[in-house]
Amino acid sequence: MITRRKFLRQSGAAAGALLASKLPALHHTQQVKPQTMDPNTLAKFVDPLPIPPILKPDRTEPNPEDPKVKLPYYRVAMKQIEAKVHRDLKPTKSWSCGGSLPGPTFETRNGEGLLVEWANELPAEHFLPVDRHLHGAEGDKPASRAVIHLHGAKTRPESDGYPESWIAQGKSVVYHYPNQQDAAMLWYHDHTMGINRLNMYAGLFGSFFVRDKAEDSLDLPSGKYEIPLMIFDRLLTPDSQLFYPASDKASAPWLPELFGDAILVNGKLFPYLEVAPRKYRFRLLNASNARFYHLSFSGGVSAWNIGTDQGLLPAPVPMKASMLAPAERADIVVDFAGHGGEEILLKSDSFQIMQFRVSREKVDDTSSLSAALRPVPRIPETQAVTTRLLTLDEYVNLVSEPILLLLNATYWHEPITEKPKLNTTEIWSLINPTDDAHPIHLHLVRFQILDRRRYDVAAYMANRQLRFLGPPVPPDPDEAGWKDTVRANPKMVTRIIVPFEGYPGRYVWHCHILEHEDNEMMRPYEVVTS
Ligand code: C2O
Ligand code: CU
Ligand code: CU
Repeated sequence: MITRRKFLRQSGAAAGALLASKLPALHHTQQVKPQTMDPNTLAKFVDPLPIPPILKPDRTEPNPEDPKVKLPYYRVAMKQIEAKVHRDLKPTKSWSCGGSLPGPTFETRNGEGLLVEWANELPAEHFLPVDRHLHGAEGDKPASRAVIHLHGAKTRPESDGYPESWIAQGKSVVYHYPNQQDAAMLWYHDHTMGINRLNMYAGLFGSFFVRDKAEDSLDLPSGKYEIPLMIFDRLLTPDSQLFYPASDKASAPWLPELFGDAILVNGKLFPYLEVAPRKYRFRLLNASNARFYHLSFSGGVSAWNIGTDQGLLPAPVPMKASMLAPAERADIVVDFAGHGGEEILLKSDSFQIMQFRVSREKVDDTSSLSAALRPVPRIPETQAVTTRLLTLDEYVNLVSEPILLLLNATYWHEPITEKPKLNTTEIWSLINPTDDAHPIHLHLVRFQILDRRRYDVAAYMANRQLRFLGPPVPPDPDEAGWKDTVRANPKMVTRIIVPFEGYPGRYVWHCHILEHEDNEMMRPYEVVTS
C-alpha cells in the first residue's frame, strides 16, 4: 500500500504541488501556526546579500598519500552561533561550520589537494527534536554528533564522511580532498546518521569551488561578478528562532518532510544585491531539507544555464525556470545590461526570494559567454556492464511510525547489495512508484541522465514486470551534463549511466530529501576491485 501522511507547509513549488492532493488531513496545522511567524510581515529587501568569506589555510601539512608534498591545511570548527537573518529580527541560534551561516567558502583548483580538520565544538545537547527511534540516533548515541561530507567530491572513503563515522563533541578528524575532478560547485554538509536533517537545518553546510584551466579559458564573469547563492527554507518562531516541528507523538517526532516559508539566500531573508548593468555568474545551490525550487528572474533579463552539479554544460542553455531539487546546483549567467535603474526579482513560483538593484553606472564588461563551454561526450549505453533495477519505496506502518522510506525494499543495516567494479560503467534504473520526486544522490561519482519514462506502477508492483506507458523522455537541456543528484520523478523510471571511477571502498547513495534520508532512504554501496 502506498499512501502518505504529510506535514503541511506546502508551497506552490512543483514538488509540493504534486503532493498537495495527497494530504489527508491538516493534522499539524493547529499546532504549527501559532508557533511560527509569517515572514511576509517583514520588510523586504532591506538586507544586503551576504557573501560567505573565503577560507584561508592555517598552515601546510604533508599529503598523506605522498608525504614529500605539502598541502594546505584548514581547521574548521563546528560551533553554535547567533545569526542575524533579517534586519528587524533578533539573532537566530544556529550551528555553523566556521562561524557564519552558511559556512565559509573553499576555493580550490583541480589537482591541488587540501586537508581539512573538521572539529566538533558544538554544545552537548541538540536544540532540535532528535528522534531516538531512527536508526543511528538511538538513546545510546550522544545528541551532539557531526560528520562532514563533501558533496560531489571524488574522495577516498576514509574522507567521505560516512554517516556512521560521526565525531563526538570535543573530537576532530582530518579529511583529505584531492580535488582531482573538473571545475564545479561542490558543497560540504553534515551527514550524521539519524540527525542529518537537524544538523543541516541548524546550519552545518557551505560551498566548495573547484576551478580548472578549461573554466579559466572561458573568461566567464569572475571575482566580484561571480556569486554563490545558497537557498534554503526555514520555519521561524515569533521569537525568530529556528522551528523544526515534531509529529504529534512526543516519543517519535520525525516528520516526512520539512517545508519552511522563510526562504533564505546565503543566510538572509529577502536580501538585495546591487549589481552593475553587465553579466554576472551565479552559482545556485538548493540547500533545503525538502523544498524544490523553480527559479526565474522577473523583468525580462537574459539568463543562461551554463553548468550542472558537476560542472559546465557543453553550451549555454537559455534559462526559463530552473528546477532545483535539494542538493542540486545550477551555474547560471545573467546579463543585466540594458536594465540600469531596474529592480529585478529572483522568484520561485509565488515566493520572492531576492532582489537585484541594477545601477546606472557605465561599465565595460570584458567577460564572455561563449557558445561552446566544455564538451560533455554522451556515454553510450553499450558501455554499461550491468543495469540495476532499484525501487524507491514508501511504506505505511500504522502501528509504529507514519511512513517508512526504503531503497529497493532494503534497510540501511542490511548487507550491501550494490557492488560496482572500479572503472566500469553501470546503468541504474530508479523505479519510482511513489507520488514524490526523490532527488537521488550517489557519493564519489558523477553520472549522466539517460532518460525518464512513465511505466505501469500496478503491473510492476504485482509481478516486477516493467511495462512502459510512454516514450523515454531525454533529460532537460539544463540537466544534460555531468550530475551527482538526479530527480527521480513520480511514477517514472529514471535511468542514469554511471562510470564508477575514483577509489574502491564503501560509500552511500540516498534520497537527498533529508527527512527521507534520515529514515532509511539511504544505502551503503561498495566499489570493488575484483
Ligand atoms: Cu549531499 Cu550524501 O550528500
Ligand atoms: Cu554526496
Ligand atoms: Cu525521497
